[in-house]
Amino acid sequence: MNIILMGPPGAGKGTQAKILSERFHIPQISTGDILRMNVREKTTLGLKAKDYMEKGVLVPDDLVVEMVAERLKSRDCAGGFILDGFPRNVAQAEALERTLEKIGKKIDAVVGIEVEERELVRRLSGRRVCRGCGAVYHVTFNPPVNTDTCDNCGVELYQRDDDKEETIRARLRIYEEETRPVIEYYREKGLYRAVGGIGSMDGITENIVKAIEDRRGYTENPG
Ligand code: AP5
Repeated sequence: MNIILMGPPGAGKGTQAKILSERFHIPQISTGDILRMNVREKTTLGLKAKDYMEKGVLVPDDLVVEMVAERLKSRDCAGGFILDGFPRNVAQAEALERTLEKIGKKIDAVVGIEVEERELVRRLSGRRVCRGCGAVYHVTFNPPVNTDTCDNCGVELYQRDDDKEETIRARLRIYEEETRPVIEYYREKGLYRAVGGIGSMDGITENIVKAIEDRRGYTENPG
């Protein structure tokens, strides 16, 4: 099952991708997480990506497309994958199609999580992330048991550099200009389904699963 999760910054793509990844035993491929890891480790890719990410604009396509193409060839993607944060513009969507064609795969469903802008800003400004395992919390909506540490691994939580209000606004603008057209790209192919992103995380997961099943007649226990 090859899925793309779309939605504006803060819609809950990462939160839902992690849940779906455990449920379906397929990896979450978050371009944002891979890029942040490269920035942290000061790799060549990370050094090239850093300035773009700090400004909240897209990292150049050639860097990201190559990175995803390599990741998709990994063994753990053989049974499927969940793309989170990719493709971010139509050029990336076209490049993804070419990559998948070469390795004999295709996208089964594209699910967009819809949340209004005021809520997105509230979510992003209150988000905290674990430095160890990457678990995502929110100071109000999904707080950890102890304010500054992760429930799973006890490591310190931090606020992402691009979760400052000014950068959040830039990211939302880029989403409208560059990423929204990708919805139309997949809608024309009959792959796109939208789900509301407000409400309980579990409820949203169920709606995403329904949207995937609706798109591909999939059942969780196909055998
Ligand atoms: P990326 O890391 O992909 O960030 P994003 O798309 O802006 O998305 P976020 O991770 O901010 O939000 P999310 O939708 O995953 O929400 P989350 O689940 O965390 O990209 C960062 C940067 O990397 C980009 O700006 C760009 O520079 C670069 N980049 C990445 N991919 C690229 C690409 N393909 N091409 C070029 N550049 C690229 O949830 C948010 C908060 O809400 C959390 O606190 C969570 O706990 C809370 N929450 C979640 N669900 C709910 C709910 N139902 N109710 C209440 N709160 C909720």
